[in-house]
Amino acid sequence: MRTPLIAGNWKMNGLSEDAVALAASVSDRIGGLDAIEIVVCPPFVHLPAVAERLRGGAYLGAQNCADAPQGARTGEVAADMLADIGVRYVILGHSERRAFYGEDSAMIAARYTQAMESGLRPILCVGETLEEREDGRTEDVVAGQINDVADRLESSVGLGDGVIAYEPVWAIGTGRTATAAQAQAMHAFIRGVLGERDPGLAGGMRLLYGGSMKPGNAADLLAQPDVDGGLIGGASLNAEDFAAICAAAARG
Ligand code: PGA
Repeated sequence: MRTPLIAGNWKMNGLSEDAVALAASVSDRIGGLDAIEIVVCPPFVHLPAVAERLRGGAYLGAQNCADAPQGARTGEVAADMLADIGVRYVILGHSERRAFYGEDSAMIAARYTQAMESGLRPILCVGETLEEREDGRTEDVVAGQINDVADRLESSVGLGDGVIAYEPVWAIGTGRTATAAQAQAMHAFIRGVLGERDPGLAGGMRLLYGGSMKPGNAADLLAQPDVDGGLIGGASLNAEDFAAICAAAARG
């Protein structure tokens, strides 16, 4: 039994006042949705204020963590610092990190290892570009992204209790969503990739869909048997929309 998970990726949006107001508004709207896990991932600087305002209604997530323990890594935030202030989840390998900051599988695996060692649950993002899809390389790209990270993890760590978010790059922030059938096909494929690594992982690991998920398309996507939740960007900045997606997951 996989508990549905809805995670809001606030990306680099909002000043502290906005973050606290959004957290308050989300908090007010998600009471009673006990059958699912809800996570909000504000920018690093807003984490303590958001934690204070959420008061346990949703889990706190970060949008990245460092690839090394505390020390000489200017500009980075160590996984144990995040765990220390109550962060439970961390998004890793988001396509924006890969595209704008050159994060590759080795870097993402190092961050994943740090997250696991600090007790955070990674949300590992994978997904193909439009060009890769049109070239018929979607499955190869996605399998490669998962295996390249998993192969680099310490065997004592493994993918563990992490989560995978399938986020086709062409659907992120574009308003263009994968159809429910496309999402289901890729999620089933990802389960197969995990099953080849470890049959236990295939059935237990939660797979989220991300890419322009909104209240209007969430129910359809979340009804797919291998879609266990969503990673929500734009719609997570609107408490009403985010709560509507959470409610769809809870009904699911
Ligand atoms: P979107 O972003 O919902 O705005 O497409 C999703 C994401 O980048 O995680």
